[in-house]
Amino acid sequence: MSAVLEADNLTKAYGAVKALDGLSLSVPPGGVYGVLGPNGAGKSTLFRIWLGLIRPTEGEGRIMGGVAGKDAKAARRTGSMIETPRFPPFLTARQTLVMLSRASGLKNNAARIDTLLDRVNLTEAADRKVKGFSVGMAQRLGIAAALLNEPELLILDEPTSGMDPAGINEIRNLIRSLADDDGVTVVLASHQLAEVQRVCNRVAILDHGKLVSEDTIDEMVSGSTQHLRISGSPVTAIMKVLGKKGTRDGEAVLARIDRKEAPDLIRRLVAEKVNITEARWVGGDLEKVFLQQTGEPRAN
Ligand SMILES: Nc1ncnc2c1ncn2[C@@H]1O[C@H](COP(=O)(O)OP(=O)(O)O)[C@@H](O)[C@H]1O
Ligand SMILES: [Mg+2]
Repeated sequence: MSAVLEADNLTKAYGAVKALDGLSLSVPPGGVYGVLGPNGAGKSTLFRIWLGLIRPTEGEGRIMGGVAGKDAKAARRTGSMIETPRFPPFLTARQTLVMLSRASGLKNNAARIDTLLDRVNLTEAADRKVKGFSVGMAQRLGIAAALLNEPELLILDEPTSGMDPAGINEIRNLIRSLADDDGVTVVLASHQLAEVQRVCNRVAILDHGKLVSEDTIDEMVSGSTQHLRISGSPVTAIMKVLGKKGTRDGEAVLARIDRKEAPDLIRRLVAEKVNITEARWVGGDLEKVFLQQTGEPRAN
């Protein structure tokens, strides 16, 4: 199968705010795919479009080859959890899953529900009311709910938010096991780099509704996405020459360019009368890449 999820020039505008801004992306089947970005980057908006919960302003989202929001068959093969799910407070975890499985027309399969409760480590809390659940427990119940229909594709928005380190570790193992043992393609959004780095095979980094990079974790970490860090003055002149390829990094500027573009860039900076005090290649670990691409306020 080709891509399980695609974004084709997606834009979603909320008044003047572009939650997504001409985003194109393709998620291959198999493994765990991470959509990484700071708060407000557009991750939940993207997932909502893929799940047909909202419509894009422009462009198209596709899920399992069908147009997002218009393909009921694709929806049946997909499980999802968007942000922290809310469940009726006076039902127990087990009753919640029974109710949801009936609502989706699945047979009341008690054995499957037991297995799912066990898989998300809620067996002991199975007959407690959801009202008393911690955020982490609600998230785990949300994941169990997303797995009710035995999906091929599982879409999880910030699946470990509000969890303690032990809970995060459990969810990480569950996600890996779903991908490795059950062959489910898992797509998750997170603003936590460590989570993504540990569990994902591939990652897309989003910022301000745009794709800033997309690659395997291995490639990103091995330094294929190095940047030229240029110190000099005036910084505004450096940013002007670089345009969209430049990001402020404190007193310096990070240039997203290939190595072969460097000599020409430096010649242009000199021609613009920039006093360059230092230019060096940085990056090579995902944390730096993430911070370089999303962490600093934009000057342009
Ligand atoms: N329903 C909405 N109405 C207005 N603005 C919204 C709405 N949903 C999201 N936004 C804005 O769109 C941007 C992206 O939000 P979101 O997709 O939730 O980002 P993320 O999930 O990466 O934190 C933010 O600036 C957010 O405030
Ligand atoms: Mg979000």
